[in-house]
Amino acid sequence: MLRRLHPEQPESFAFTAANQQWAEAQITKYPEGRQASAVIPLLWRAQEQEGWLTRPAIESVADMLGMAYIRVLEVASFYFMFQLQPVGSVAHIQVCGTTSCMICGAEDLIAVCKEKIAAKAHELSADGKLSWEEVECLGSCTNAPMAQIGKDYYEDLNAESFGKIIDDIVAGKVPTPGPQNGRYAAEPLNGLTSLKDYEAGKPRYNASVELADHLGDTVKRIDGTEVPILTPWLGKDGKAAATKAAPKPPKAPSPAKPAAKQAEEAKKAEIQEDQPETLTAARGGKADDLKMLKGVGPKLEQTLNELGFFHFDQIAAWTPEQVAWVDTRLKFKGRIERDGWIAQAAQLAKGEETDFAKRAKEDGTYED
Ligand code: FES
Repeated sequence: MLRRLHPEQPESFAFTAANQQWAEAQITKYPEGRQASAVIPLLWRAQEQEGWLTRPAIESVADMLGMAYIRVLEVASFYFMFQLQPVGSVAHIQVCGTTSCMICGAEDLIAVCKEKIAAKAHELSADGKLSWEEVECLGSCTNAPMAQIGKDYYEDLNAESFGKIIDDIVAGKVPTPGPQNGRYAAEPLNGLTSLKDYEAGKPRYNASVELADHLGDTVKRIDGTEVPILTPWLGKDGKAAATKAAPKPPKAPSPAKPAAKQAEEAKKAEIQEDQPETLTAARGGKADDLKMLKGVGPKLEQTLNELGFFHFDQIAAWTPEQVAWVDTRLKFKGRIERDGWIAQAAQLAKGEETDFAKRAKEDGTYED
């Protein structure tokens, strides 16, 4: 399936104050320079807030993490858990179509989706409340066929029970998740054959369903009050046309970047590129082994040589402006600063050993 940005996009995205706080807290989980590791949780939160991943949301997450937009788009378009088009304002239904579910009747469930929601997957229903898609195994094969709605699993379905769940959701009711055929969890269909004592004192529902029931979260997620949040650029009826004709809302300010990051970015923007002195060949015909620098492997060493750098003392002497010049000519920007080439090169130029160089010499490990 081709996964692309939806042709119609909202003007802007901003995390709610609570989500912004949560997102900033996630970023602090990772060491300095590794903030990009928070990309999936942040995208997921943006999707939970909006219902789907909009282009402004992807760009906003990229800005927060200091990543190129394309890098975040690559993540968003690779993982099928990210929805790149508007979903139903009340529920997006994911029907498992993998082997166990297919054998046990997934095709009947998909026929129900086609009849009650929309003829094609990822299309909104006429009232904009629902959408559906077929997904790969959701790990509930013992209770096949099944579907995920919001965060809950509805299991042991057939066309009739599934159709009723959809009708209930549209009517604003809250169907109880879990097995829909009277099974408690994933025990044999004919009843327990062991651990029978458990029968007497067991809670009303299995643990997952009990939790959903206690949280009341199911109600919160599918009662329809989220409509303005789920699809802010669509009308209550889920149709785009009316809102598209209306004047565009003022562009919301991008989430504020932490002051330290802003200062760092401003400083970087100020630095003008300056070409360092280069050589046409290694002095005395003997180049230093630049692979002793952490982050430099054979390919990068070759690139550095081609640019005219053969010796540690050349690298150790780079000014910030010269680092900027070299940086724009390397494939991965920011690597010089990230791996601390200048400090490493200064040590190696003095004939001292670095921890990395010691290890690299011992086991022949280089990095590219
Ligand atoms: S095959 Fe459907 S949940 Fe595994």
